[in-house]
Amino acid sequence: MNTEIVYDIDSAALARAGRIIREGGIVAFPTETVYGLGGNALDPDSAKKIYAAKGRPSDNPLIVHLSHPGQADEYCFTNDTFRTLAKAFMPGPLTVILPKKDIIPPEVTGGLGSVAIRVPADPTAHAFIKAAGRPIAAPSANISGRPSPTSASHVIDDMDGRIDMILAGRDCEIGLESTIVSVKEDGSVVLLRPGKITPEQLGEYCRVEIAEAVTGKFEGKPLSPGMKYKHYSPRAELYIIKGNEKDFYGYVRKKPGCGVIRFDEDRLLAGLPDSVSIGSRDSCAEQAHRLFDILRGFDKREDITEIYARTPDSSGVGLAVWNRLLRAAGFKVIDLT
Ligand code: TXA
Ligand code: MG
Repeated sequence: MNTEIVYDIDSAALARAGRIIREGGIVAFPTETVYGLGGNALDPDSAKKIYAAKGRPSDNPLIVHLSHPGQADEYCFTNDTFRTLAKAFMPGPLTVILPKKDIIPPEVTGGLGSVAIRVPADPTAHAFIKAAGRPIAAPSANISGRPSPTSASHVIDDMDGRIDMILAGRDCEIGLESTIVSVKEDGSVVLLRPGKITPEQLGEYCRVEIAEAVTGKFEGKPLSPGMKYKHYSPRAELYIIKGNEKDFYGYVRKKPGCGVIRFDEDRLLAGLPDSVSIGSRDSCAEQAHRLFDILRGFDKREDITEIYARTPDSSGVGLAVWNRLLRAAGFKVIDLT
């Protein structure tokens, strides 16, 4: 398939993208979190095309993207908690799971009776959804099993030749996927996936329970189908190291074929040949922004067989960085303390 790659995203390009969606095609688009792979959320065949392009199992449901939270009532049964969270955080990097209405086909929700709703803040995402005039079903625009794409070049690497169009916009500001919560009948929420919007922020509006799978290995029945799939793991073996910089350095300095993910402040580790900084130790936002690009970078290096990463601070937005790193490492943590 010939994929049109659009760098100059003007109104004519958006109109073409909108038409592609209405005609059942697939368009990748930037959001503030990661790039999405969008199709018409009301069309079962579009959902099938998305799964095929990603190589993803079709029981892992897609997020439905809207241009305004007020439209959610057309597609699901909203409640006071949704309205409160929508007022506080939408548009923005929050996805809320609610009971679905029949208009959303089961192909989009992996057969579940619930649907995930998100209203992206990114202006290109917003303009694209409006141009389509349809709710947009979209997972992250990576081939299943690879890190989510945070730049147009990541999307082109994974999707060129597999979809109709790529809106090649800016790098994603946040760099990790949205925070996902499921709303319970009593109005409290369960955090299924941490993101830029933290449990503390959500807690100002409703009671928040953090699903065990956020920080631990999944066991038992998953609350979100996404939890049961093997997450991205780099080609090289990734380990997270607990301990200070000096001990980390001593542990890895003589290892051959060793990549290192360090902080800006790590002077010793900066001297190693394949050491990359994920940002300042104190800036979870920087770490979130860079993580997936760093992991994709190491995947291109055939000579690197092991990667060792510093332990991020797991509070606030750091919980999201920790959650993604832990999964990428397959929960392998080496404790040098
Ligand atoms: O930031 C984001 O959320 C990005 C951008 C493109 O919006 N999208 C994204 O989609 O990360 P995806 O498909 O890669 O991750 C969505 C996750 C999956 O783990 C899926 O299992 C879960 O959301 N999910 C979707 N609908 C659900 C539902 N009805 N119940 C439980 N989990 C659901
Ligand atoms: Mg994904």
